[in-house]
Amino acid sequence: MSTLGFSTRQLHAGDEHDGPHRPRATPIHLTAGFVFDDFDQAHSRFAGTDDGFSYTRVGNPTNAAAERRIADLESGTGALLVSTGQAAVATTILALVNTGDHVLSSSSIYEGTRELLRDDLARLGVAVDFVSDPNDSAAWAAGIRPNTRLVFAESIPNPKNDVLDIAALAGIAHRNGVPLVVDNTLATPYLLRPIEHGADIVIHSASKFLAGHGTVLGGVIVDAGSFPWVAHAAAYPQLAETRGPDGRTVVERSPHTAFLEFARRVAMRYGPAPSPLNAFLILQGIETLSLRVQRQSDSALHLAQWLERHPHVESVDYSGLASSPHHALAERYLPRGYGGVLAVTVRGGTAGARAFTNALRVFTRMTHLGDVRSLVLHPATTTHVLRDADELAAGGIGPGLLRLSIGLEDLPDLIADLDQALTAAAQASEPVPAQVPERALAAV
Ligand SMILES: Cc1ncc(COP(=O)(O)O)c(C=O)c1O
Repeated sequence: MSTLGFSTRQLHAGDEHDGPHRPRATPIHLTAGFVFDDFDQAHSRFAGTDDGFSYTRVGNPTNAAAERRIADLESGTGALLVSTGQAAVATTILALVNTGDHVLSSSSIYEGTRELLRDDLARLGVAVDFVSDPNDSAAWAAGIRPNTRLVFAESIPNPKNDVLDIAALAGIAHRNGVPLVVDNTLATPYLLRPIEHGADIVIHSASKFLAGHGTVLGGVIVDAGSFPWVAHAAAYPQLAETRGPDGRTVVERSPHTAFLEFARRVAMRYGPAPSPLNAFLILQGIETLSLRVQRQSDSALHLAQWLERHPHVESVDYSGLASSPHHALAERYLPRGYGGVLAVTVRGGTAGARAFTNALRVFTRMTHLGDVRSLVLHPATTTHVLRDADELAAGGIGPGLLRLSIGLEDLPDLIADLDQALTAAAQASEPVPAQVPERALAAV
């Protein structure tokens, strides 16, 4: 399908019209498992000599249709659909590391992923280092160790909207024999396809722009099929030594997609399978991805420019603004638009942010992104509540910073809503200290 345009492929890529009824829409195969015709077919499904379906935890036709479509849109060779974005991150990392290994990550990433890397991998004996400026090539190169098994970054991290130089980081990772994993949730394949710039594995929280309507959670892992697993087999013994029922190892069976095969056949044991109903809703969301993301990006740029001029606004973080330190990279990597998420810092610190948030009527107060509805969140007291003051400052997350995810509402309505909320923020009197619990469970 690669010769067709993006909007055509988001409707047709991976379509199959099998079966006697040939439904036009992808059927929802809501079933735990699939009937084996006979004794021998059951064996061949488990032995992998017949590629039919057996049990929905490891494969389902509806999930497979979503996998084919997303792999096509991301220019990958295959994909694995899982239950959430966090499941995609965890499954990818757990498929690539062993105790004693090392992961090098940007620190400018989704806070839930940062906590997983920092706390949970340490518990499993996997060391993690963070690079604080994702575009500091020297820091990346210096941070890679002989036991580094993956380099992790996000194409457009929120809330600061820094843009990753994917080609530069891929070059550093590959010179050191390490795959580059990129979380492309905020950009979506409509705006940016990291594989075309050298990434080896692309991850999404499909709960966000891909599904698009705030109804389901989902995650996806896309394999570029380009990392030379055979050449680096000693570093990934799970791929080089794990044998299938036919006696061959994962790299022998699938030299180019060994990671994805291992993730599907082994890491799915951890149980992150999605419901076929959710896969259907993600597929349906993808059918309008380009239209939604173009409109959200256009509206976000307009609002960022309007907010930047507003007297009650201290600053705006959006790579589409000429004033952004990431604008040059954004122009290179994001020619269609700069994404639907921006950050605005209102005057008045936490008190201003509180009054602003509470005054909004069209924006929904919610921890989510990429919805058709516009959303607002105060990261310092929610997603980043586990960070101490120094860490918040290092991440550029001030007390007056709010994350806005722009939806599909009419622009004049969004502007009017923001305007009256900024007036409320300016009128907020005495600053009230934020009620931050000593220890919360995790970012959501
Ligand atoms: C960039 C990014 N990656 C991953 C996740 C986790 O996705 P999910 O909420 O689907 O588990 C999120 C959630 O906000 C995210 O923003």
